[in-house]
Formats: sequence, C-alpha cells, structure tokens
Amino acid sequence: MLPTIDLQDDLIVMVDQRKLPAQEVYVRCRTAPEVAKAIRTMVIRGAPAIGVAAAYGIALGMRRSTAKGTTQFTVEFQKTCDLMAGTRPTAVNLFWAIDRLKRAFAEGAQAGESPKELSARLDREAKAIHDEDVANCRLMGGHGAEMVKDGARVLTHCNAGALATAGYGSALGVIRAAVEQGKKIAVFADETRPFMQGARLTAWELVRDGINTTVITESMAGPLMRDGEIDIVIVGADRIAANGDTANKIGTYTVAVLAHEHGIPFYVAAPLSTIDLATPEGKLIPIEERDQREVTHFGTSRVTPEGAKTRNPAFDVTPHRYIAGIITERGILRPPYAQSLAAALNGSGLKAQAAP
Ligand code: MRU
Repeated sequence: MLPTIDLQDDLIVMVDQRKLPAQEVYVRCRTAPEVAKAIRTMVIRGAPAIGVAAAYGIALGMRRSTAKGTTQFTVEFQKTCDLMAGTRPTAVNLFWAIDRLKRAFAEGAQAGESPKELSARLDREAKAIHDEDVANCRLMGGHGAEMVKDGARVLTHCNAGALATAGYGSALGVIRAAVEQGKKIAVFADETRPFMQGARLTAWELVRDGINTTVITESMAGPLMRDGEIDIVIVGADRIAANGDTANKIGTYTVAVLAHEHGIPFYVAAPLSTIDLATPEGKLIPIEERDQREVTHFGTSRVTPEGAKTRNPAFDVTPHRYIAGIITERGILRPPYAQSLAAALNGSGLKAQAAP
C-alpha cells in the first residue's frame, strides 16, 4: 500500500505530495503546528487524508504537552483543535476528525482521567480514524466495482486515491477493486489544473499499480465523451451536503455537466465522514480560495502577464441531479439523497442498490 501517512514513535511521517512524481521524499512532523503547516501547504491533501493527519497532529501535540493539570491540558487541547480547524475550510473530514477527538476527550474527562490517560485516549482515537479509513476505502471499492463493467473506460478528476486517503483510495479504490476482480479497465485522468493532482498523483499511483492510464487536459474530456471513449465517471468528494450536492476539486462540475449531456453515469465515491448533514445544500459549502500563484505560475515559471487578474477557487459544487450514485462503505446511495444520506448516516441498514 502507498505510504500516505504514518505515525512512527513520536513522529508523523508523510510523503510530500507537492514533490511527486519527480521525487519521493518524506516530511517528518514533530509538533502540532508542523502538522497544521503540512496540511495548509498541501504536503498532505485529499479530504480523508487531511482528517487522519489532523487527528494524529492533535494526538501528537497533546502527547508533547507539559500542562501541569487537567485544566491547563484541556485549554491546550482546545487550542490545538482550533489550530487544525483553521488549516483548510472545505474538506469536512477535517472537522469530523476533530469532533471525534473532542468527543473522545470529553468522555475521558468525564471519567476523571489524568492528562497522560487523556493523551493515550487521543492516540487510540487517531489510530482508529486511520484504520477505519483504510477499511472504508476497501468497502467502497467492493460496492463501487459493481458499477464498473469489464472493459470500461473510466474518467476521474483530481486525485481520490491512496494519497488522498489513509490508503487504497475512494474513486481510485473503486478502480483498484474492479481491477482486482479481473476486469480490464482503462483510466483517463484529468490533469486537474492548477495543482495537477490528476497528472502528478493519480497517474503516479495508477502506473505504479500497472493500471492502463491516460492523462488528458480538462478540455479534452468533452470531445472524448462525445466520441464514445468514456463509459463512466468516478470522482471523490470533499463535502457532500444533506441534499447530495457535492463539493470536489474545481473542474468536477464541468465534468458532471458534460457527463449528463452525453448520458454517461457520474458517480461520487466518498466515506460517510464526507457527508455533512448540517449543511443543507451545496451553495452553503465554504469554498477555499487558494494562493493566486498556483494559477499565475507553473512551477517557478510565470505563465500569466503581470497585471492580469486571476481567480483560484479550489473546489466547485456539483448539483445532486447530476450524480447517479454516491458510493460509500455502506453501499451505493441513490436519489433522493435527502433520504438515502440521512438513512446511511443513521445506520439504518442501507443496502447497495441496482444501477438505474
Ligand atoms: O485540494 P485537494 O487536493 O485537497 O483536493 C482533493 C480533492 O478534491 C479530492 O478529489 C477529494 O478530496 C476526494 S479525496 C478521496
């Protein structure tokens, strides 16, 4: 499995995703602020992976605490949670993971645990978040692979792979599972301007796994669909609103509209931790606006003239009406999403449904 993130003794080790595929180098974080910086600067990215990194970062930060008693320890814990929450605004897995640690902390505090015991509890919870994410990716893969026929040509956008999760991947997990079932699959990876997660990361992962991969620029997706070269689209998600509207990497909306126009099924693969029932619809999802330099420059070279304005929203929202199904660890959720998402989150024995 790809080494996205690991806790090694008192260090959090992450492969530096900014440097792939040219270099495979590892960043070692010793403190919570170092982990927060790694998330903000995209050493690690992808909604589920951000959640895992934040959980480990908080646990590590509290391990290093020199607080004299529980009161001071609690203040430090809150500050560390706030630090992580300020790193990236769109991926809801970040806030979900922080909430999980807060609940674990509150249970320990209620039971009268010492700072050392509370810290051990946070370590256990962070490890559980990590392990569950890998298991959930495998489950998503199994459910989603049923939608991918032998010989399918799959288009994906951004990187929703092992690098974006604790391992195996969400959208790429579906592709991996289909390949493991013996299906012959060809993948088209949108390059995903401006940060090039598709060209750099998705292609790197898939080529390593020996999966047939073709990188295309985003503007090629439409003509390929028109010419009958794409059978299915599978993407990840950063936040899914209660009505099924889905925020994912900028450009996903365009792909969804094109898929709709050409009658190609468009699937979202995401763990339940990406579903945000507290946000009723997509237009309420906060969209991160990133550094304009990601648009004005290609590496160190400037590609736009001085004086030209630029925009850099990192995500867009795909309306739920374009989504054929949301592939989760509990099965494939179908419209109407207001009901199926709530039922899945409330654990009401949801089963995978047949394709429409
Ligand atoms: O800005 P990024 O690289 O963190 O954005 C990542 C995406 O949009 C992914 O598609 C999404 O997080 C799904 S990851 C399983």
